[in-house]
Amino acid sequence: MFGRVKPLDAILATAEKKSLHRSLGAFQLTMLGVGAIIGTGIFVLTAEAAQKAGPGMLVSFIIAGFVCAVAALCYAEMASMVPVSGSAYTYSYAVMGELLAWMVGWALVLEYAVAAGAVAVGWSGYFVGLLREYLGISLPTSLVNADALIAQIKLVFGAANSEAIQTAIATGGYINLPAFIISLLVTWLLVIGTKESAYVNAVLVMVKITALTLFVVLAVPVMNSANFEPFAPLGFGGISAAAASIFFAYVGFDAVSTAAEETKNPQRNMPIGLIGSLAICTVFYLLVASGVIGSVGAQPLFDAAGNALAPGSTELAAACATSGADAVVCSKEALAWTLREIGWQQVGNLVGLAAGLALPSVILMMMFGQTRIFFVMSRDGLLPERLSRIHPKYHTPHVVTIITGIVVAVFAALFPVGALADISNSGTLFAFAMVAVAVLILRKRDPGRARPFRTPAVYLVAPLAALGCIYLFWSLSGYTKLLFVGWAAIGLVVYYTYSRSRSHVGRGIVDVHEDDTDIPPQPVPPLPGGIDIND
Ligand code: ALA
Repeated sequence: MFGRVKPLDAILATAEKKSLHRSLGAFQLTMLGVGAIIGTGIFVLTAEAAQKAGPGMLVSFIIAGFVCAVAALCYAEMASMVPVSGSAYTYSYAVMGELLAWMVGWALVLEYAVAAGAVAVGWSGYFVGLLREYLGISLPTSLVNADALIAQIKLVFGAANSEAIQTAIATGGYINLPAFIISLLVTWLLVIGTKESAYVNAVLVMVKITALTLFVVLAVPVMNSANFEPFAPLGFGGISAAAASIFFAYVGFDAVSTAAEETKNPQRNMPIGLIGSLAICTVFYLLVASGVIGSVGAQPLFDAAGNALAPGSTELAAACATSGADAVVCSKEALAWTLREIGWQQVGNLVGLAAGLALPSVILMMMFGQTRIFFVMSRDGLLPERLSRIHPKYHTPHVVTIITGIVVAVFAALFPVGALADISNSGTLFAFAMVAVAVLILRKRDPGRARPFRTPAVYLVAPLAALGCIYLFWSLSGYTKLLFVGWAAIGLVVYYTYSRSRSHVGRGIVDVHEDDTDIPPQPVPPLPGGIDIND
């Protein structure tokens, strides 16, 4: 079952042909990481983490940051050794065989596409706030979320017609239009070949860091220690659940490891870039979370029976709508809301503006990652090869980009940010755990192979990474885990009914490509007589 392995040497031959110029140093790598990491997680999901853990979310941030750090060290060894696109999917193909690689690729759809949807919904919350604060335009509720639609769907599927469902139908909406539109806009940018330049990334990193610094400088000094009590109203279970969700805030560091082959002296610079960007983000996240907790409080909302309401649920939305709850857990723009609440109206708006400007680039990076994974899988024959068709003018894999974009837009239009982030985390955690295992297997199986970067204390770090991912996965909501299992089951069906018989490796075709997915193959121009061999 695990026998179909893509020969590592064939993968490396692809990488060698690519031979990108090694130009990135530790500083650029760190910037790349920070640019990909800071996004909806801290700007929006802080509210969700508060609802799950209360002030204890500080511990959640530390746990999630630690798991990412050990996973990042494993990622870096693989990325420096197998420096080709496709990330965890490609590594797994070489080490653990086609079936597991397929499952990892399938899970990466959750990581990238669903994460893009989550960031789009997070952006929408800030965009709605900006329209209101700067232009005095309040978008109708029916266009900023799909709570009423979801409540009605729940009724159709037999949910009790509770007060919360009634409130959601009365006060909720039918589509998150801004999230839908931004997803399609980003898709269009990707189709015409937009890639984020290092310059734009540097500017956006500065925008995000400035916004978070402003937040910390204004919110931390007005800290009231009473707001930290009770510290863990929902116990360690709540802290673990929040860690599993807030893990989303750290995702994106794989952007650093995938730049391995463009890195000068990767043995030194790769860990600095990975751990440096994660460390910077962790420090900011802890300060920002302390600022939120200390200044406005972060206690969860409970129902009449004393149970904490689930973030993103119809019940929580109803509780927020009916009580007019002045609580950060009800805000869709947690950081801007907090600043406004403590009297910094204009700075709050500026922080909102920073999020509004910077989050689309995170959507872009996530969708770019998704299209490249699909591209590699389709080039390997596991997905229809039509998907990897390249646009004659823009030289981008437009078919797969458009399909991905439409799916992301629909998800973003319908689902709450926390649910999407959790689903994305389930896929990411699976992929990270697989990478950690792959590193260990390869150390045993092929100890002599050149490793430009070696994970330090690998026999400690890799098991910690795998166990940390399993623990966080386990701490996700039952519903999220169920969805993951359902998605994996669909993946298995697709594999056995479609992909397995078409796999290039399975058919004995060993591909060595001139180029890698960052620069997809150029189409051959039509031959005289109008014959197009690309078709
Ligand atoms: N870490 C990224 C974010 O928080 C995905 O938006």
